[in-house]
Amino acid sequence: MINDIEKVLFTEEEIAEKVKEMGKKISEDYNGKDLILVGVLKGSVPFMAELMKRIEIPCNMDFMAVSSYGSSTETSGVVRIIKDLDFEIENKHVLIVEDIVDSGITLRYLKKYLVAKNPSSVEIACLLNKPDRRQAEISVKYLGFDVPNYFLVGYGLDYAERYRNLPFIGILKENVYKNK
Ligand code: IMP
Ligand code: MG
Repeated sequence: MINDIEKVLFTEEEIAEKVKEMGKKISEDYNGKDLILVGVLKGSVPFMAELMKRIEIPCNMDFMAVSSYGSSTETSGVVRIIKDLDFEIENKHVLIVEDIVDSGITLRYLKKYLVAKNPSSVEIACLLNKPDRRQAEISVKYLGFDVPNYFLVGYGLDYAERYRNLPFIGILKENVYKNK
């Protein structure tokens, strides 16, 4: 697995440090509010696990699964809900927890979908952002790192469902997906 990585962008320690800051900010902003974290399966799982441990106020968690990718490295532009929420979110403050915002199509769709269920608010916490790739206007309230336009894996991010379990975030070597 490690042999397929061109370069490590963020180590486990760097990610933990950043997520701790994000958790602190979220704890301050949502103090006294009914907060529910909505993780986007499966890429957000390590980030969600780390972030919730750094949130110092009571909160619920739920998950959704959407698909827009298949196994290619480019978005299809079409978003489909595979797993919906388990909980009602009316009058709750929703924080969508996502691994990476690329074109923005997935998050724009999800946000609109959740807003329609009458929550008190919907904001986004995203570990990584590829600003150069944006097609859909979307504002990310809590952002970890801006990243360059390479295909990244690890810490939840996959290529064809592999590499999610790497503890760091790295650039995938081009030959892994270019010759497919
Ligand atoms: P968007 O709709 O184009 O913003 O796509 C966001 C989704 O694409 C993320 O949740 C990831 O699952 C996936 N994605 C985008 N860029 C990468 C990457 O560099 N590595 C792995 N997955 C990615
Ligand atoms: Mg994802």
